[in-house]
Amino acid sequence: MSCPFTDPRALFGDLAEARSRPGLTWSESMGRYVVSRYGDIVEALHQPEVFSSRPAVPELPSPWRERFAGRVPDRGTLLGHDNPDHDRLRAAVNTFFMPRRLARFEPWIERNAHALIDEFADRGEIELKRHFALPLPLRTIAHIVGLDVDKADWIGFALAFFLGPKDTHYRASPEEKADALLELHEHIREVMADRRRDRRDDLISHVWNVRDSGEAETTDFEMLSLFPGLMLAGHETSSNLLCTGLAHLLSRDGAYEAAQHDDASRARALEELLRYESAITGMSRVVTRDTELGGTRLRAGDEVFLAYASGSRDGSVFDNPDGVLLDRGFERPHLGFGQGVHACLGAPLARLLLKTELRVIHERLPGLRLATPYDELEYGPVGEGRGVPELLVRWNPGGPRPARVRTRPGIQAVVAGKFVVADGVVELEFTPVDGRFPAWAPGAHVDIRFAPGLTRQYSLCGDPAEQDRWRVAVRREADGRGGSVHAHDRLAVGDVVTLTGPRNNFALAPAPEYLFIAGGIGITPLLPMLSRAGAPWRMVYLGRTVRSMPYRDVLRGLGDVTIWTSDRGRFDLDALLASAKPGTAVYCCGPERLLAAVEELCDRHALALHVERFAPKPQEFGRNAEFEVVLAGSGRTVRVGPDESVLDAVNRAGAGVPSTCREGTCGTCEVRVLGGKADHRDSVLTPEERAAGEYLMPCVSRSQTPSLVLDL
Ligand code: FES
Repeated sequence: MSCPFTDPRALFGDLAEARSRPGLTWSESMGRYVVSRYGDIVEALHQPEVFSSRPAVPELPSPWRERFAGRVPDRGTLLGHDNPDHDRLRAAVNTFFMPRRLARFEPWIERNAHALIDEFADRGEIELKRHFALPLPLRTIAHIVGLDVDKADWIGFALAFFLGPKDTHYRASPEEKADALLELHEHIREVMADRRRDRRDDLISHVWNVRDSGEAETTDFEMLSLFPGLMLAGHETSSNLLCTGLAHLLSRDGAYEAAQHDDASRARALEELLRYESAITGMSRVVTRDTELGGTRLRAGDEVFLAYASGSRDGSVFDNPDGVLLDRGFERPHLGFGQGVHACLGAPLARLLLKTELRVIHERLPGLRLATPYDELEYGPVGEGRGVPELLVRWNPGGPRPARVRTRPGIQAVVAGKFVVADGVVELEFTPVDGRFPAWAPGAHVDIRFAPGLTRQYSLCGDPAEQDRWRVAVRREADGRGGSVHAHDRLAVGDVVTLTGPRNNFALAPAPEYLFIAGGIGITPLLPMLSRAGAPWRMVYLGRTVRSMPYRDVLRGLGDVTIWTSDRGRFDLDALLASAKPGTAVYCCGPERLLAAVEELCDRHALALHVERFAPKPQEFGRNAEFEVVLAGSGRTVRVGPDESVLDAVNRAGAGVPSTCREGTCGTCEVRVLGGKADHRDSVLTPEERAAGEYLMPCVSRSQTPSLVLDL
């Protein structure tokens, strides 16, 4: 069966017809099968080895291919790569785009949104796309990547080369845009070279940090290839989403005000708008081997178009699919950003940007309304992207000009001292730039942001009574992820760093007696506990050599401390734990081998064990067990069966957790853990974050404990 898929106004009718027919629908205009049903699209998205995304980025035709050779990467986005290259390249950028980490850019976006509206707030009427919806995402993405924001319009012009005739914004010949595109790539190369020497808080610096840490290997040319595609997708889709989203809200009685009640209502409304009409109609895939999808036999080499816009309106999945329901739950995720390994990398940024834009528009443009009747809005031609070339709006001028500027979270602190306290271990002493540090209790740790993209957690090891100085000790790990090497080799007295926290996952619980077991640098969280235990205690401190053990001299004379080095043979942990009185609380911190041994022995001797890990516990994902999740906000408890995700289970109970990839790679679904122990299976949290156990990606991660309490 064939469907036209050519008239933008008839698109949703065509897609509904395609969904109603058996099998896949052949599109003559696209030259490929259209996959229109939700289940079929999701099935294909989660089989990237069978449905390759390479055709989503077609090769450039002559003469551009020859002209750009060696200067403009021909596979200029992650979509153009299958595995193993895709995962390797994505690992260089995906942790940057986690919502929690992107939140630091919100004040910047808000300031710039106000600055743009300052230019036209008094006019009462504007074409919003040209004056706001396009320039703000362009500036934002340029800022986040690390390019000069004043060049944002030029960057948009250069990137418009890729849009071809679909570009209605920049009037210039393809040759002029091609020249600009070549210049843009040269400019990015220069910024990359600059950031290699001088890291800042931007994506280019982040990729260098990831490269230096060895977490993701990329060549310079591959690194260059990451940014233009991201910038193109980032600004084009965001501007379309804002314009069509506003049009849908403003054309329905009461919808705009209901959506603009607060940030939570804005976030909910955005998810529904993304479902109703995403800026991405769909994406193409090529079939790599003979298979079947949606009742149609496909041969290797066949091409399919996964019509996200259709799946998100599938009536077998969504009630009232053609209505805009602002209170629609999150039980079934929409396909507005795709799913799977190729889910939109910039989805968290788009959500942050759109939410901030809506808030500022609401504050600054009172009485906002459409100036063009909704039914007369013109859409661009049918393709992968969907949007209106312009959106004329009116409001009642004279609205407020708020001067609200949010401050960056965290505590600014100066490195006041740096001392060698053992072979390969330095102690860092920090003093606050302003005021005093917050109070903390033994076992607490802080996040130290040494440099952009280089945040690491360390246990506080000083005196909890001191609020004018904090101390941590750092062992140099040459094969680590770069934090300890930075602390040892680059950080200098007088440097300013940002600290966040303190947080405590290793607090002292009341007990009649304590047994502290430290391995090497694992002494740090235990040291402050000794003076605060308030009950009899013993400590065993294990290390390779005396010289490698920090604070051994401090410990002498404090109480019952045994210092044991490897050259004396193996320490008898079994005898130690067998000698502990019933009720003794065992606190242990050190390398995984020590923790595993102590865990086993504490089980054997029925002792309560508290551990602090520097790296996640090695996991084997065997058969999934059933467990329960408590939603702390409502007190509701939901069972998570072996074959469902925490995400689906909590959303079934109305938790409203958004998601994008549903494979643990984007960070969209992140939730805070308030109790229990997570079984992390994602690929965005750092080892330190996994060890801290404060966050969980419920789309893939599960629980190590029978119950998990989530901040929902
Ligand atoms: Fe992407 Fe969970 S939805 S990490």
